[in-house]
Amino acid sequence: MSAPTVNTKGILNELGGEAAFAYLAKAKELASKGVKIYNFGIGQPDIPTFSHIIDAAKEALDSRFTGYTETAGIYELRDALSTHLNSRYGSDVKPSEIVVAPGAKAALFLTIAAYLKEGDEIIVPEPSFPAYPEIAKFLGARPKYVPLKWLGKEGGFKLDIETIEDSITSKTKMIVVNNPHNPTGALFNSEEIEQIMEIARRKKIIVLSDEIYDHFIYDDVKFKSFLSFPDWRDYVIYVNGFSKTYSMTGWRLGYVVARNDVIPRLSVLAVNVYSCATSFVQKAAISALQKSESDVKKMIELFKKRRDLIYGKLSSIEGLEVWASKGAFYVFPNVSEILRNCKISVEKFVNHLLMKYGVVTLPGTAFPDKFGKDYIRLSFAVDISTIEEGIEKMRECVKNLITGKDLIS
Ligand SMILES: Cc1ncc(COP(=O)(O)O)c(C=O)c1O
Repeated sequence: MSAPTVNTKGILNELGGEAAFAYLAKAKELASKGVKIYNFGIGQPDIPTFSHIIDAAKEALDSRFTGYTETAGIYELRDALSTHLNSRYGSDVKPSEIVVAPGAKAALFLTIAAYLKEGDEIIVPEPSFPAYPEIAKFLGARPKYVPLKWLGKEGGFKLDIETIEDSITSKTKMIVVNNPHNPTGALFNSEEIEQIMEIARRKKIIVLSDEIYDHFIYDDVKFKSFLSFPDWRDYVIYVNGFSKTYSMTGWRLGYVVARNDVIPRLSVLAVNVYSCATSFVQKAAISALQKSESDVKKMIELFKKRRDLIYGKLSSIEGLEVWASKGAFYVFPNVSEILRNCKISVEKFVNHLLMKYGVVTLPGTAFPDKFGKDYIRLSFAVDISTIEEGIEKMRECVKNLITGKDLIS
């Protein structure tokens, strides 16, 4: 008798993964063979988790705070979260309107599952963080992609409000807005956010607002949170997490903010899937929220310097068009001229850059749907010397491709 096999016909076979993790594994493998790697691939701050957060986790472990907690998260953490959000955004979120999850990705899963069923549609501005459309597909719903507008190296990336509205049908249940934006580094302005909210009100559609990069804002541009609308409860479900702001990617902690009657729906799924987020990580997160102001400020100042450096260096590479990101920690240069000249796809370009020059970037196609085929993503959450040396390697690669010294079949 043969061994049992997994279901190869089910929905899991139709889902895509996240390229950032695949490239991280590839880069680690090359590094283990002694190749010098310049890793602009994965989206995580390179600095260690702030030490007071580590101390708080140790303290929780020492006091044996290691059992299950409430599914929605310990009250102390939800209380600290509501205080944090309300002081930042002038909102009135209550601890009872928060559900804590093991990572923002898990929070996204709860959120999308609470609203979408088979046959429903979700509007996803693209390029997009891949989890939104993949989760929707898992639920039998259909992502409808609306490309961002690319206004060139002066104007950057904007939401296409008109096309978003035109894409709404009777099946549309949700519009995703990720601001600041992965992978473009765009920061959608107050006017764009207000226009989306206005559509949500008129058409009675929920906005999924993923604001995980809300602290990563450069150039003194004002950020408008969807939680700052007095009627957020009627039209907004909000996701955020600790991974980026507090450099806690491996700790796995995120959360959802939703109005009261949605909370039991999120909780029932949560209790069946993961019971609760890790107990001592929740304790540490309170310290993250209450004691990190100066560490976060320092980190953002450092990231701004890196943004300026990477933007300056990329701008001087011929054939590449780059916009100075306003938020998150990504740049998303347009490489269409290089691809056209060399008659190659963006995947081939990215692969060549990695295999011959050790420079890890992600192809824009990793961020569905089609918009990204002319772009690559670089994370500037890396040290200055990686930017200095890695972008020089990239310059050399582009030059060798354009002059025909490097050939890709
Ligand atoms: C836009 C966006 N949302 C959510 C996440 C997931 O974050 P977490 O590590 O908390 O699961 C990421 C991580 O890259 C992201 O870029």
